[in-house]
Amino acid sequence: TSHHSLKRVLVTGGLGYIGSHVVVALLMTGRYLPIVVDNCHNSYPEALKRCAEIARDELGSDAPQPLFHRKDIRDKAALDEIFRQYDEQGGIWAVIHLAALKAVGESGEIPLDYYQVNVVGSIYLLETMAKHNCNHLVFSSSATVYGTPKIIPIPESSPLQAASCYGRTKAMVEDIIQDLCRADVGEGKGESSLRAVSVRYFNPAGAHPSGKLGEEPRGKPGNLLPLLAQMATGRQRADLKIFGNDYPTRDGTCVRDYLHVMDLANGHVLALDSLAKPLSGNTIFSHVNVESEGYFRAFNLGKGKGMSVLNMIDAMKKASGFDFKYEIVGRRLGDVPDLTADPSLAEEELGFLAQEDLDTMCRDLWNFQTRNPHGYESTSSLPSPIL
Ligand code: NAD
Ligand code: WQD
Repeated sequence: TSHHSLKRVLVTGGLGYIGSHVVVALLMTGRYLPIVVDNCHNSYPEALKRCAEIARDELGSDAPQPLFHRKDIRDKAALDEIFRQYDEQGGIWAVIHLAALKAVGESGEIPLDYYQVNVVGSIYLLETMAKHNCNHLVFSSSATVYGTPKIIPIPESSPLQAASCYGRTKAMVEDIIQDLCRADVGEGKGESSLRAVSVRYFNPAGAHPSGKLGEEPRGKPGNLLPLLAQMATGRQRADLKIFGNDYPTRDGTCVRDYLHVMDLANGHVLALDSLAKPLSGNTIFSHVNVESEGYFRAFNLGKGKGMSVLNMIDAMKKASGFDFKYEIVGRRLGDVPDLTADPSLAEEELGFLAQEDLDTMCRDLWNFQTRNPHGYESTSSLPSPIL
């Protein structure tokens, strides 16, 4: 069959943890063709082969295949060339923009790199989109934009007061996108103006249930779940340190809102779908003032269920059978006691509901970890379809 009717969606950062699951979710719709742009800074081309494999396993041999350009979003000429290439075939319909640097601690050490990739890279992307009349955008934001929130569960209306350089880059890009959406309306561009949805993720966890795709960062993981998974397989022998048990929470350890990465990936598809819907009448985005604000929406993507560090260690013990030994140490700089989402807006307006429970997240994470004990790198044999 031909795939000419598929809408082309550029996925920046599409080899990464979340991006690769988004690529699978897009392929599974049978309506979108993902075109990945990634420089492999924190990922491997192997992820793309795994995405293609999953699509073939589930949809058959004529499943659409993702395309890949190994390029840096800081290279504006390269972005322009990619868009130009697809213009001849009907153009790129939308962009899902996930490419970014994301380590909170590192962002305080090398802030200019973070502003260059996350902010300047986003501006280059927006400029290139405008030049090529690509008017639909889903942007990867983060719960970290809320800083230390006053109201829990956190509504989208909570003020943005990020406590790290990383968080500020995300909040800045949200502002830039929102200003662009407003400006487009002001110029009376009507149909051709930018429509954008910013998705603020809480803590993604787990892996694709096939065990072929998961979180595979370069270097030692700094986040709790990948660290627990690598400890349980023996890949990391580091001692487990709990950063503080004197927080004002149920058991004194920090509380986070974990959601399954495939739920999160499907949230991107819903956000993308919403961009194609007209705003008039009793449709979604009922409370956007298009006249003055343009078509910009921000949504929390979470489950709305808080889990403590100790809850997570228990859940990973249950999934892996590994008896984690830990010590309690001092608080980690920049950690906040509780980041739990109010996910009701995304449910009302996008129809988004994070379905999978914590045991499923840990089971799928453990399945991925045991099937890929040394990650993607050692399994790469065939060349990947780099364009
Ligand atoms: P990741 O590091 O696995 O994915 C990011 C991808 O972007 C990587 O594949 C990396 O190689 C690529 N990239 C980095 N710099 C690039 C550049 N200059 N040009 C092209 N590609 C580049 O991280 P992830 O967890 O999948 O995060 C994806 C997005 O989601 C990021 O924007 C991140 O800030 C955001 N986010 C992540 C989390 C989380 O907990 N994982 C939470 C909230 C938001
Ligand atoms: C979870 C909890 C730690 C490791 C980070 C970013 C956030 C978002 C997701 C992108 C915390 C505790 C951890 C360890 C521990 N990313 N912990 N010992 O900090 O909630 O979120 O990733 O946007 O912006 O900040 O995730 O997994 O690092 O930590 O006790 O060795 O586990 O203190 O309470 P976090 P995490």
